[in-house]
Parts: sequence; structure tokens; C-alpha cells
Amino acid sequence: MTVTRKEAEAAADQVPGSGLSARLYEPFLWLGEKAGFWRWRQRLVSGVSGSVIEIGAGTGLNLPFYPSGLERLVLVEPEVHKAKVLGKKTPPAGVNPEIIRAPGESLPFEDDTFDTVILTLVL
Ligand SMILES: C[S@@+](CC[C@H](N)C(=O)[O-])C[C@H]1O[C@@H](n2cnc3c(N)ncnc32)[C@H](O)[C@@H]1O
Repeated sequence: MTVTRKEAEAAADQVPGSGLSARLYEPFLWLGEKAGFWRWRQRLVSGVSGSVIEIGAGTGLNLPFYPSGLERLVLVEPEVHKAKVLGKKTPPAGVNPEIIRAPGESLPFEDDTFDTVILTLVL
């Protein structure tokens, strides 16, 4: 059975995090991104099409690489502080993400809603 958005958000509230870890996330990854993570993100994400869901989108480091004209792009991030940082990011032109707070285990969507699922650095 599919959970409601409210149930998904309640489940997301159980995922640990803090304002500090959300603020430090990108500085912490800076060297890895410089060393080439960004290229790997670009390669993974730039070719997607149709309806796409990204689970554990974090602060949105994949966002700059999504192509324009997607049918739908849903960015799922459970942790409230990271979701706030994500919500402040400016997407590329023609990219209109919906940001949803939910853990990957409780997504408020029916089966077969999406063509592509993206996860990066999410265990
Ligand atoms: C290492 S970060 C990766 C963030 C982003 N995908 C990236 O590549 O930069 C792991 C992310 O998974 C999220 N996360 C933790 N538990 C999760 C769960 N149960 N379902 C979905 N995402 C979760 C965290 O809040 C965090 O944003």
C-alpha cells in the first residue's frame, strides 16, 4: 500500500541529521567533487529522460546536471535540514524539480510511477 505524503514526512522525521551537518556537507565533499565526483554525477544524470526520481538527493549536488524537458523530476530527501538547503538551490533552465521529504523505504508514489531512479552516495 502506498503511504500518504504526511505519513512519508512522519517517517522522514525519524532520519537523523542536523543544521550543522547540512551546512558542512558540501564543504566536506568539496575535494571529492573537485577530484571528479562532479563528472561522475554529470555522466549518471545528464542522460535521463521521462519521469525521474532521485532518492536521498541531499543538498542537490546532482541538480545542475539534470537535462531540461523531463516529464517529471522528483527529488526525495528525508532529512529536514538538507531538504531546506536543496529547496534553495536554483535548478537549471527547463528543470522543475518537486522536492519531497520521505525516506526511500516509504515513498508516497504508486509502483511504476517513474522511468528512472537515481541514487548517489546513498547506502
Ligand atoms: C551521503 S548523502 C548523499 C547525498 C546526495 N545523494 C549526493 O550524492 O551528494 C546521503 C543522503 O541520504 C539521505 N538518507 C538517509 N537515510 C535515508 C533514507 N532512509 N532514505 C533516503 N535517503 C536517506 C541523507 O539524508 C543524505 O542526504
